[in-house]
Amino acid sequence: MTLAPLIKLNDGYSIPQLGLGTWPLDDEKVSAAVVRAVEAGYRHIDTAVKYGNEKGVGDGIKASGVDREDLFVTTKLDGEFQGNDRAAEGLDGSLQRLGLDYVDLLLIHWPLPARDEFISTWKTFERLQAAGKVRSIGVSNFKPAHLERLLAETDVVPAVNQIQLSPAITRTAERDFHSRLGIVTESYSPLGGSGGDLLSAPILYQLGEKYEKTPAQVVLRWHIQQGLVTIPKSGNPERMRENLDVFDFALDPLDLAEIAILDEGPGAGNDSDATGH
Ligand SMILES: NC(=O)c1ccc[n+]([C@@H]2O[C@H](COP(=O)([O-])OP(=O)(O)OC[C@H]3O[C@@H](n4cnc5c(N)ncnc54)[C@H](OP(=O)(O)O)[C@@H]3O)[C@@H](O)[C@H]2O)c1
Repeated sequence: MTLAPLIKLNDGYSIPQLGLGTWPLDDEKVSAAVVRAVEAGYRHIDTAVKYGNEKGVGDGIKASGVDREDLFVTTKLDGEFQGNDRAAEGLDGSLQRLGLDYVDLLLIHWPLPARDEFISTWKTFERLQAAGKVRSIGVSNFKPAHLERLLAETDVVPAVNQIQLSPAITRTAERDFHSRLGIVTESYSPLGGSGGDLLSAPILYQLGEKYEKTPAQVVLRWHIQQGLVTIPKSGNPERMRENLDVFDFALDPLDLAEIAILDEGPGAGNDSDATGH
């Protein structure tokens, strides 16, 4: 059984470098998926209030029989829980649905800058961390400008920023910014997302032939070699195993340069000043 290596966070905790994405699986599907994922070696599960599947994730964790301490569980609070103490209520709901007494990582799902509540929300996150209801705290979809404001007005540097990232949406400036601050970058939609066509790029197929791997494995290896944490979603046990089986080969520098032709440039991907929930 393959286990993903651990990446150290700025607060002393560690996160498995590859985890299971769970959107858009419903409670029933996600519960079965979590059991199969744990069997395959996954020890990191990504959910969110918005996915409506925290109860199923919790049921799956229980059914899998894995020790709580061996598992890394992330959830995210969306706009409904931003502002003043609302995040405390939001986390309580998540813990109840998950059947857990702490989460490993709690994220602000989107900055929603027009709402202008992410600072007060983060201060509540700091208190929840001090109270032991969450081990690590982080953000998602934050741009450098949002992070700069957060750092200027609050005390704890986020452990993680989970952003849309793939060989097509490379966010190199954002990644450099994160590493200067000690923030781990986590890639969501790492395979290009549901319904995306990244995996049909001929170069990924050609490299797959060379390394005897699939296009998805080539892409996930690209994430791993750049020190990113990544959370590919699959509801299919065969693909879950395939996605975790990326720690026994390495793309050479020329092949990484070939993959760079897929980069759609700095403007690619979603814009969290304009979108979010
Ligand atoms: N923070 C945020 O705002 C945010 C936003 C979006 C997503 N996320 C998180 O990130 C996770 C991953 O992102 P995502 O679901 O958007 O996209 P993704 O993981 O890039 O792609 C998922 C799609 O790829 C397919 N797939 C998985 N493994 C495959 C393989 N080996 N070969 C071919 N196809 C494969 C899946 O189908 P099957 O299931 O049929 O295998 C699914 O259609 C989400 O599940 C969620 O947990 C976070």
